[in-house]
Amino acid sequence: MKEYASAKALSFTESVIRDMTRVCLRHKGVNLSQGFPDFAAPLEFKEAAAKAIFADANQYAITWGTPNLRQAIAEKIAWYNGLTADPEKEITVCCGATECMIASLLGVVDPGEEVIVFEPFYENYGPDAILCGATPRFITLHEPDWHFDEKELTRAFNNKTKAIIINTPNNPTGKVFSREELQFIADLCLKWGVLAVTDEIYEHILYDGARHLSIASLPGMRDQTVMINSISKTYSLTGWRVGWIVASPKVTASVRKVHDFLTVGAAHPLQEAAAVALRVGRAYYQTLAEEYRERRDFLLPVLEEAGFRVYRPRGAYYIMTDVAHFGFADDVACSFYLVEKFGVATVPGSAFYNRAELGKTKVRFAFPKKIETLQMAAERLRKFKPPQK
Ligand SMILES: Cc1ncc(COP(=O)(O)O)c(C=O)c1O
Repeated sequence: MKEYASAKALSFTESVIRDMTRVCLRHKGVNLSQGFPDFAAPLEFKEAAAKAIFADANQYAITWGTPNLRQAIAEKIAWYNGLTADPEKEITVCCGATECMIASLLGVVDPGEEVIVFEPFYENYGPDAILCGATPRFITLHEPDWHFDEKELTRAFNNKTKAIIINTPNNPTGKVFSREELQFIADLCLKWGVLAVTDEIYEHILYDGARHLSIASLPGMRDQTVMINSISKTYSLTGWRVGWIVASPKVTASVRKVHDFLTVGAAHPLQEAAAVALRVGRAYYQTLAEEYRERRDFLLPVLEEAGFRVYRPRGAYYIMTDVAHFGFADDVACSFYLVEKFGVATVPGSAFYNRAELGKTKVRFAFPKKIETLQMAAERLRKFKPPQK
């Protein structure tokens, strides 16, 4: 009998995060698992999308993205990230940061080469590395501040290393990489000729005075960075699937070929509306961060009062918790107990680790939700009691 599944597909599982959303629906739970807003997207972006459809932006756009959106991206990264980019040769629009990441890795990494990934990581990076035949090298981020060991990272770089993935602000930990940490990574990238592939989709969701820095803006790193972003989190438009890659003309040329044959292009009218979103007034970003701070500050004490040990995030919209003292068999048992008995869906920590045992005592809560939703979760969590032994 032939095996009708490829060895690659057999080597990873379906997304645990997205599965938890389905489990949540079955149990009519409050969904604090998958990171998407349950509140309305801003009206002016929706109106821009409707207008683009009625203006008949309904056929394929230019494969690398509409000129208008690529121009808007260049303008935005100039004022926010302090970077210049040529929209003709250095910006590629894809179907969300998700496609940006796989198209970038397929465009630059060969089988047998190594990609460094900080662990815990956003779960797509593992399968992404497998799909491009790369060998992932995992570097642990150590709680409570999620720092990496400089010696361990230094040892991970070698002649086979092609890329390092940096997600800041970070999902699931809420870590915001500091200038010193990014400079340390940049020095290693420059020494070994390694590309920094960055996932910066939470760049505007920052707390307690944290500042976002793009590694591409450090000396010598502009052409050695593949910078990924999307409209999903900043503009609360996760379903539109519009993201972009900024990279040197050479890297862009390879990545564009992969992108073309993967998806041809992102939805044309939604690209036009994304250009409107990227040009929104700057006050929008302050309000966004402030509203997320309110949500974070609502949920943190609720979790603490329910007995969870919390890691206070400095960015992004997740709270990682430690549940070791509750005495569950593992993180999966804890997550299922929470959704089945109390109707609150979370993600088991092991979903973010290659070495599952490192996530065995952790559970992640997502809070891009209306305050009413968080209140409902709070009512349920106040009843939470770990199982009696
Ligand atoms: C770190 C990170 N990268 C990428 C994505 C997916 O981004 P997109 O919706 O643009 O594909 C997510 C979604 O949760 C994420 O947390």
